[in-house]
Amino acid sequence: MKPTKSQFVRDLRDQDRVSSYFLVKSCQLGTGKTGKPFLSLVLQDKTGEVDARIWDNAGKYSGTLGMDALVQVEGNIQVFQGRLQVIIKDLSLLRETDVVLDDLLVVSLLDADALYAEIVKKIHAMKDPHYKALCESVFIEDEDVISRFRRAPAAKTIHHAYPIGLLEHVVSVCEILDRIGRHYGNKVNHDLLLVGGLFHDIAKIWELQYEKSTDYTDEGRFLGHLVMGVELIDQKVRALNAVPGRLPETFPTEKLLLAKHMVVAHHGKLEYGSPKEPVCLEALIVHMIDDLDSKVNQILKFVENDPQPGAWSGIQKHFGRFFYKPEWARKAPLG
Ligand SMILES: [Fe+2]
Ligand SMILES: [Fe+2]
Repeated sequence: MKPTKSQFVRDLRDQDRVSSYFLVKSCQLGTGKTGKPFLSLVLQDKTGEVDARIWDNAGKYSGTLGMDALVQVEGNIQVFQGRLQVIIKDLSLLRETDVVLDDLLVVSLLDADALYAEIVKKIHAMKDPHYKALCESVFIEDEDVISRFRRAPAAKTIHHAYPIGLLEHVVSVCEILDRIGRHYGNKVNHDLLLVGGLFHDIAKIWELQYEKSTDYTDEGRFLGHLVMGVELIDQKVRALNAVPGRLPETFPTEKLLLAKHMVVAHHGKLEYGSPKEPVCLEALIVHMIDDLDSKVNQILKFVENDPQPGAWSGIQKHFGRFFYKPEWARKAPLG
């Protein structure tokens, strides 16, 4: 009989004894100040994830542990730099038949059907025949894209890093772009904004693998979602041009370049991975809204999961600061 999992990440508190099974989300070998090797892990179950360390016999475990390993963990919780951490005393590998997998995989409360319906609605409302056909060919007609897009996270760790997170992010970005498009009227190209919203991160569906925990694919590591997104646009436009009568005229080169620019420029700066900085207003807007939406999600999730009681969070690593938590995110003091 499979063991019942009675201890979940969400319920862990400082000083707790840990005896439960988890999915290994990541595992890295590090070296301490004294030169002694240690293992730094992230453990996950359906309620969240927690950092973990193995200080003793790290070498012995490093050969057998990897992403998606199933492990029985014995240890204790301590707080390190404001975050809970499992100090692992003992660990054994389990097989899939030893665990209830549903206890370990993050379930998304997001409604993929409703979110995807928003995408379709926005594409149907587009006016430019070329941009509209390009969006239809990917988001309405390509079954492979659609099925991945309805499941994928938007990232391995930073923002929207959970199933259906990419779809949530893209709908949110497109919704804001829609409003900005209306706000500026004919000063900006509304349909081009939507092309940017829809395509900027679409290649994350291939950049990442997300069957259990999330990691980069080889294609993702070698090329990344900006290059892969441009390839997708190129391939779809060629296919559209090849079908007689599909477009009112051949896809204009200028529109093709603008659509690709939305993707290559969306990280905003060379040091953030964009080979070109935004050189048109629409690309600048897409970059800023993408940045806004990812940061808002990052901070919301951080304060929601922060274990500190009271109004102030622990240090948020990416922002390097504490956050003042809204009422809804505050935990009752322990004891
Ligand atoms: Fe991106
Ligand atoms: Fe994005």
